[in-house]
Amino acid sequence: MNHIKIDLDRQSGCIHPHIFGGFVEHLGRCVYGGIYEPGSPLADKQGFRRDVLEALQRLNLSIVRYPGGNFVSGYRWMDGIGPVEDRPTRPDLAWGAIETNHFGTNEFIQFCRTINAEPYLVVNCGDGDMREARDWVEYCNGTQNTALANLRRQHGFDAPHNVKYWGIGNEVDGDWQIGYKTAQEYARAYKEFAKVMRWVDPSISLLASAVSSWRTDFVERIQLLLDHAPDLIDYLAIHWYVGNPEGDFEKYMAVSELIEERISAIEGLIRVMKLQRNIQRPIAIAVDEWNVWYRTHGATPTGPDNLEEKYNLEDALVVAMHFNAFIRHARSVKMANIAQLVNVIAPIFTNPDGLFLQTIFYPIEIYRQSCGNIALDVFWTGDTFSTAEHAGLRVLDVSATLDDRARKLTVFVVNRSQTDEMETTITLDGGQFAGTGQAWVVNGPDIKAENSFDAPDRVSATRSAVTAGLTSATYTFEPHSVTALSFDL
Ligand code: AHR
Repeated sequence: MNHIKIDLDRQSGCIHPHIFGGFVEHLGRCVYGGIYEPGSPLADKQGFRRDVLEALQRLNLSIVRYPGGNFVSGYRWMDGIGPVEDRPTRPDLAWGAIETNHFGTNEFIQFCRTINAEPYLVVNCGDGDMREARDWVEYCNGTQNTALANLRRQHGFDAPHNVKYWGIGNEVDGDWQIGYKTAQEYARAYKEFAKVMRWVDPSISLLASAVSSWRTDFVERIQLLLDHAPDLIDYLAIHWYVGNPEGDFEKYMAVSELIEERISAIEGLIRVMKLQRNIQRPIAIAVDEWNVWYRTHGATPTGPDNLEEKYNLEDALVVAMHFNAFIRHARSVKMANIAQLVNVIAPIFTNPDGLFLQTIFYPIEIYRQSCGNIALDVFWTGDTFSTAEHAGLRVLDVSATLDDRARKLTVFVVNRSQTDEMETTITLDGGQFAGTGQAWVVNGPDIKAENSFDAPDRVSATRSAVTAGLTSATYTFEPHSVTALSFDL
C-alpha cells in the first residue's frame, strides 16, 4: 500500500508559470513547415499553421525561447528583419543547413503574441559581439527617437516589443558551439554584454549560459560568472537531454535522481556563492533546454532523421518526472523550456496535411492545465524498485500543488511500474476535501506505444471523476501512467 501525506501548511515555494516554457530554434522543420508555413492551406494570414496554433493553445506555454540553440551562435538578427524579399539567405554552420531568414524577430514576436506567451530572445555570444546584442535590445524595446527603434517602427511596429527575457549565448561551454568559450572568457564576455544590454533597457532580465556539459568545469564556470557579474545575472541557464539508449526501463525511470542531483547541485552552488560574495538579490535556475533526445542524436536537420524523434509512453513518464522535479524545486527553478516545440524533438508533429500529438504532449498539457501556484512539500512512502545504481526508489514519483484562489489541490503522480497498479491512500492536513475532484490520466497499451499519423491516439489522456472523504481519499494508479488528481478543497 502506498501513502501520500499532504499538509497544506507545508508550502515549499511559489510556482512560476515560466516552468511551462517552450523553445523554437531555426532547425530542421521546427520553424519552416512547423510553426510557420506561408502558402499552406493550413496557414493563417501571418503564415502560422492554424492546426499548430490550436495544439499550442492547449499547452498554453508561458514563455518561448528563440532563435537557438546552437543556431544562435552564428546568427545575425539583422538578417531576419525588414521586407522578406530583401533578407539574405545564409549558410547555417551550426546545423549544416541553409537559412532563408524569412522568419525573424518580428514574426517570432507575433507568434508569441498569438499564443499568448512571453518572448525570450538569446543573443549571439558565439561569433557575435556586444554591439550587435545591445542593438537587438534597442530594436525590440527602444522607445526613443533612435535609429533602431525607428527601424522597428518603419517595419510596422510602433509599440516596443518589450522583450523582458534575454539570454547571453547558448551552450558556450561546449566545443560543438560556434565561438566556444573557456570559463574565464565567458564570464568576462557575459559581464560586458550584460552591462550594455542593461544600459539600453534597465528593465530586462538576463540569463547566463551556465551548464550544458555536466562532465567538465561547471563549478568553476558558475563561480566565475557570479564573481564577475553578480548584479547582472537573474538566472543561471542549464540544459540536459535524457534517454533510454540501453532499453532498460527501470534505469530510465531512475532518471528522476539525475534531475534531482543536478538541480540540487546548482542550488547549492548559488547558495555558496551568494554567501561568499554577499549577493543579496535572487538568482534563479532556468532549465532552458530539456527533453528526451537520444534516438536522433547525431542526425542533421537535412538528413533522414531531421532530429525528428518519435516518442513513446515511457518518454511521456520521463517528461512528467521533470515537471514533478521542477515543482518540488519551485523555490529555485523559475523557468524551464522544453526543447523544442514542433517536429524537432517535439510534442507536436506535422506534415503538409496535418499533425499528430506525440506522447509527450499529454503530460505537458495536464501539468500546465492542473498546476496550482504554490508547491507543497509532500511526504510519500510505499513500494520501491532498484537499479544497478540506485536502491529503494519509490515506484511513485510525486509532486503536489495548491491553487490558493480556486482552492484546489492537485497531486501529480507517475506510476513507474510497468506491470502493477498502485493502490494509494492520500491524507490531508491543514484543510478538508470538498468531496469532488477529477483524475486526468495519460496512458497507453504499453511503455513502447507511440502515436503516429496512422494511430494518433495510442497514447492519450482521459478524465474521470473522483471522490474523497473529509481528509482522506484512495486512488489506484494505473501501471505506467501519469496522473493529475485534482481535489476541490
Ligand atoms: O535543441 C537542440 C540542440 O541541443 C540545441 O541547438 C543546443 O543548444 C542543444 O545542444
